Amino acid sequence: MIKIASIFDLERAAQARLPEVLFDYVHGGSEQQITLQRNLDDLRALALRQRTLRNVGRRDMSVTMVGEQARIPLAVGPTGLAGMTWPNGEAESARAAASFGVPYCLSTMSICSIEDVAKASEKPFWFQLYLMKERKINESLIDRAQRAGCTALVLTLDLHVQGKRWADEKHGLGVPPEMSVRNVWDMASHPRWLLSMIKSQRHTFGNLQGEVKQAKNVQALTEWVENQFDPSFDADSVRWVRARWKGKLILKGIMHPDDARQAIDLGADAIIVSNHGGRQLDGAPSSISVLPGIAEAVGGQIEVLFDGGIRTGSDIIKALGRGASGCLSGRACLYGLAANGCEGVHTALSLFEQELADCMALTGLSSVHDIAPGVVTAQPSLVMQG
Ligand SMILES: Cc1cc2nc3c(=O)[nH]c(=O)nc-3n(C[C@H](O)[C@H](O)[C@H](O)COP(=O)(O)O)c2cc1C
Repeated sequence: MIKIASIFDLERAAQARLPEVLFDYVHGGSEQQITLQRNLDDLRALALRQRTLRNVGRRDMSVTMVGEQARIPLAVGPTGLAGMTWPNGEAESARAAASFGVPYCLSTMSICSIEDVAKASEKPFWFQLYLMKERKINESLIDRAQRAGCTALVLTLDLHVQGKRWADEKHGLGVPPEMSVRNVWDMASHPRWLLSMIKSQRHTFGNLQGEVKQAKNVQALTEWVENQFDPSFDADSVRWVRARWKGKLILKGIMHPDDARQAIDLGADAIIVSNHGGRQLDGAPSSISVLPGIAEAVGGQIEVLFDGGIRTGSDIIKALGRGASGCLSGRACLYGLAANGCEGVHTALSLFEQELADCMALTGLSSVHDIAPGVVTAQPSLVMQG
């Protein structure tokens, strides 16, 4: 058993438990994974200003994120197929987020349905929407999220086509994965995962199962989903969603100041600066590199949230120091789920909290609400004069 001291240990534990086809899906990015790596490298390259002569006995880490109380400035972000890594995975993650005290966002492409998660979690959650070509299904998903009491709709903007993830293509990732000799062997050699999955209530896209009448079996549903991402998605699509959804609207996948300004005009309550964790446009800059320009363009008119590469508490400080008011975690919480279900997600959140508290103490911060300019900087140059 791997002893867990950091998110990186949860990553190793997830790798040990999951078949390769699933671990590569969770861990990987699109094409050459340039953007995925940039997200990690650029966060790490930032420097934190160390201050020592300050009383940091009390540190305030709580915030509100789009109207929700959050014990730390971090929400569990939407990740498709989480329920293939742990039985009833999305319901387990939502329970962990609720008991810890941070928002949870359910993906359209989840295994548990909106209703399953509403039943499992004692707190309301956010629902992430991919607009499908079939409008009737979009209407139904929005209405179901509304009926389930979801407090915010997270509309993902960056999936006109799906980024090519080479490992997924080679493995034959699907729901369920292709039954090739390699995958069958891969799954059979991970008995802890395989046996646990018997407890799963569902084995396909829970939100779409009952919606797509023409998909007679699980394979047909997977094929239907692959053809549903809509390249004609534009500002009018957002207007349509804004008119139908009555609650808070968060636009996810903003990487340019002009798109951020347009998001305000379209009636968004918040944006998420995100390149989908390096899983869509490979070659896009890191999300942390574009964050300050976008925060400046928004000028405090709506909330600016951030994701991409968050693996430690200090990464959260770096994002807040560059203009975000809160962060989302994709992979880190998913590693926790894949390693140890509800408890694993709780462990991930607790690690973030402890590391955040430590980082605040060592940078002389008493509150996440006033991270002054200069706390997060570029690493000073080593060039010497003369
Ligand atoms: C396995 C996986 C599945 C994802 N599925 C979705 C999804 O269904 N909808 C969505 O908007 N974003 C999805 N994302 C992107 C995340 O919400 C988030 O933007 C990204 O993971 C942040 O980067 P991080 O993993 O470095 O934290 C997914 C990410 C991963 C790793």
